[in-house]
Amino acid sequence: MLSVRMLSFFILIFSLCDADSICPPEDNPLILSPHEIIEEYGGNPVTVNCSTTLAKHKGMYFTVGNETSHIIEEQMNISQSVSLSDWNVKIKCKVKLNESHECSKDLQVITFKNPEVVYSVQLENVMGKETQYRLQCDIINVAPVQYLTVSWYKNNESIETQIFNDTIKTPVNVSSILRVNISREENVVEFRCEAQLNFGRQEQKTPAISQTQKVSAHYAPELNTESTKAFSSLEGNNITLSCEAVGNLPPVYNWTCDGEIMLENANSLNITRVKHNTTCTCTATNYLGNITNTINVHVEPKGFPFTLTPSEMVVRFGDPVSINCSTSATDVEGMGWEAPFGGTGFKPPPVVTWRVEKLEEWAPSPFCYVTLVDGEQYTAKPDITVYKTPDFVSVSDTGRGPMVEGREHDLKCDVINVAPVQNLTVKWYRDNETVQTETFNDSTMTPVNAFSTLRISTQRNYNGLTFRCEAELHLGPKGPKFLPNVTSPPYTAVVLCKSPNYLLHVF
Ligand SMILES: *[C@@H]1O[C@H](CO)[C@@H](O)[C@H](O)[C@H]1NC(C)=O
Ligand SMILES: *[C@@H]1O[C@H](CO)[C@@H](O)[C@H](O)[C@H]1NC(C)=O
Ligand SMILES: *[C@@H]1O[C@H](CO)[C@@H](O)[C@H](O)[C@H]1NC(C)=O
Ligand SMILES: *[C@@H]1O[C@H](CO)[C@@H](O)[C@H](O)[C@H]1NC(C)=O
Ligand SMILES: *[C@@H]1O[C@H](CO)[C@@H](O)[C@H](O)[C@H]1NC(C)=O
Ligand SMILES: *[C@@H]1O[C@H](CO)[C@@H](O)[C@H](O)[C@H]1NC(C)=O
Ligand SMILES: *[C@@H]1O[C@H](CO)[C@@H](O)[C@H](O)[C@H]1NC(C)=O
Ligand SMILES: *[C@@H]1O[C@H](CO)[C@@H](O)[C@H](O)[C@H]1NC(C)=O
Ligand SMILES: *[C@@H]1O[C@H](CO)[C@@H](O)[C@H](O)[C@H]1NC(C)=O
Ligand SMILES: *[C@@H]1O[C@H](CO)[C@@H](O)[C@H](O)[C@H]1NC(C)=O
Ligand SMILES: *[C@@H]1O[C@H](CO)[C@@H](O)[C@H](O)[C@H]1NC(C)=O
Ligand SMILES: *[C@@H]1O[C@H](CO)[C@@H](O)[C@H](O)[C@H]1NC(C)=O
Repeated sequence: MLSVRMLSFFILIFSLCDADSICPPEDNPLILSPHEIIEEYGGNPVTVNCSTTLAKHKGMYFTVGNETSHIIEEQMNISQSVSLSDWNVKIKCKVKLNESHECSKDLQVITFKNPEVVYSVQLENVMGKETQYRLQCDIINVAPVQYLTVSWYKNNESIETQIFNDTIKTPVNVSSILRVNISREENVVEFRCEAQLNFGRQEQKTPAISQTQKVSAHYAPELNTESTKAFSSLEGNNITLSCEAVGNLPPVYNWTCDGEIMLENANSLNITRVKHNTTCTCTATNYLGNITNTINVHVEPKGFPFTLTPSEMVVRFGDPVSINCSTSATDVEGMGWEAPFGGTGFKPPPVVTWRVEKLEEWAPSPFCYVTLVDGEQYTAKPDITVYKTPDFVSVSDTGRGPMVEGREHDLKCDVINVAPVQNLTVKWYRDNETVQTETFNDSTMTPVNAFSTLRISTQRNYNGLTFRCEAELHLGPKGPKFLPNVTSPPYTAVVLCKSPNYLLHVF
């Protein structure tokens, strides 16, 4: 047995179905104004009017969810304030035809929430010339999602649109994911996504637009064809070497010069006051690889405007000497001569003189220096040869016994106390005929004794001839006009005739 209460429930269901059947949609006596509400959640309440075309009825009322408004009779219209704080609200306007029948009309209510978008880019893979990106657009807090359209734009051109068919009415978060391959030729490509609620019939809401992201293909550094391979400069100049590599991500540069690591990480390297030929390399590196460029820096030596007069000198030991050092440069702070004797100290330009009254040094090494305003220092050394002629030169006989016809016999020439021996030439004369010349390799600058030996194949007619030796100093064009020379006293040969055989027998 059904209870009375249950029974009345069934009757109600039946009568509602019945009511619907006599109030078909195309002939509904109820008119809602507005007939639908599309409003943002949380907005001001909206007033809805419901009027009927029926002049006679038993009352009009609204149902909002499970609540029912007052039933109003003898009016053809009623109104209801609808608050926008319920995502699932169901609103109906009803009119009672009689005690058991009524007509009903649903109000379309769409409570929406405009979303926010967050857009992120992730590099997925570098495959040769193309780089794959995964673009993700997160649409936060949107309702109802079934009206959402997400559009992807590549360089302002729509390339893909996504819709969502979930019918949930409350706010949700959804994501749209796009995978794209970017080639190097495309250079920089801009992407953005837009999320828009679209209710049809011009009912579109302002889209939420993501920020624009720029993406480009990644690749290892490559040298620009214009990269410097060789560089020429005058000594002392400030130079800038540059390395032109392209790569994505932008490469980091490292420099070495003659194997030494430079502290520069830019694509150019400054070298101040370049001094010598050098080979620099720059390496451009990013996470995909590296490339190295080698630059040969050729430095032309600069003749500093710097004069020594004379720059070469040949001086006899004990003679006076003076050399001028002058400069035409304007940025000179000071200059001077440095030497054990005759040094000048730091003097103003343009001329300083090194002067010694009696040069009594065998290997003098004075040098002139010039200090520029910027601290750079240059030096120059004159070339000085100090000489001394021998104290005496003599010929002696080292042969044992007398000179005998047909036998070899040695004569020795002693040259005492001469410098520098490397410029000494000893000449042997037989009468006035030169028979032997000897030079010496010893690089000693101080005085030494030298000797030369003359081997004679004794001939009968040598008897009475004179032998002499002469010591000459060959000191080049800067030396004295006449070769300084000392000649030995003559040595007169006495030759014994070869003994006849019979005499030898007697001995
Ligand atoms: C509802 O009716 C009132 C007068 O009763 C009118 O002022 C209002 O504009 C109407 N609203 C709509 C949405 O039709
Ligand atoms: C009406 O619905 C609300 C929830 O929307 C519920 O809490 C309440 O109990 C319901 N009232 C009746 C009378 O069913
Ligand atoms: C509401 O009904 C009354 C008559 O009951 C009518 O005068 C009035 O114009 C109606 N208003 C609307 C907005 O339909
Ligand atoms: C929503 O759409 C997707 C594809 O567009 C489909 O696979 C899925 O079945 C749909 N879901 C519903 C509830 O319609
Ligand atoms: C070279 O660079 C140095 C140091 O920066 C500077 O003092 C000098 O004036 C520069 N020289 C030239 C010729 O530019
Ligand atoms: C380049 O220089 C940086 C900083 O000096 C250093 O960290 C890095 O290891 C160097 N890279 C190479 C390839 O030498
Ligand atoms: C190199 O020198 C130039 C001027 O000659 C200067 O503008 C530049 O900043 C310098 N670069 C570095 C890395 O010092
Ligand atoms: C650089 O090398 C060239 C020959 O290769 C040479 O003539 C020049 O003197 C060198 N420069 C310096 C500063 O040594
Ligand atoms: C440069 O690249 C080569 C391969 O091309 C690799 O062997 C080397 O280690 C790299 N050098 C640096 C400093 O990254
Ligand atoms: C030197 O030699 C020349 C021939 O070359 C000769 O005429 C002259 O007489 C010689 N003088 C002496 C002193 O022997
Ligand atoms: C002395 O001799 C050396 C070696 O033969 C030579 O190089 C140098 O020029 C000579 N000195 C002079 C002043 O001619
Ligand atoms: C040797 O010295 C004398 C002066 O002392 C000079 O007249 C002569 O020409 C010199 N000999 C040579 C070969 O130069």
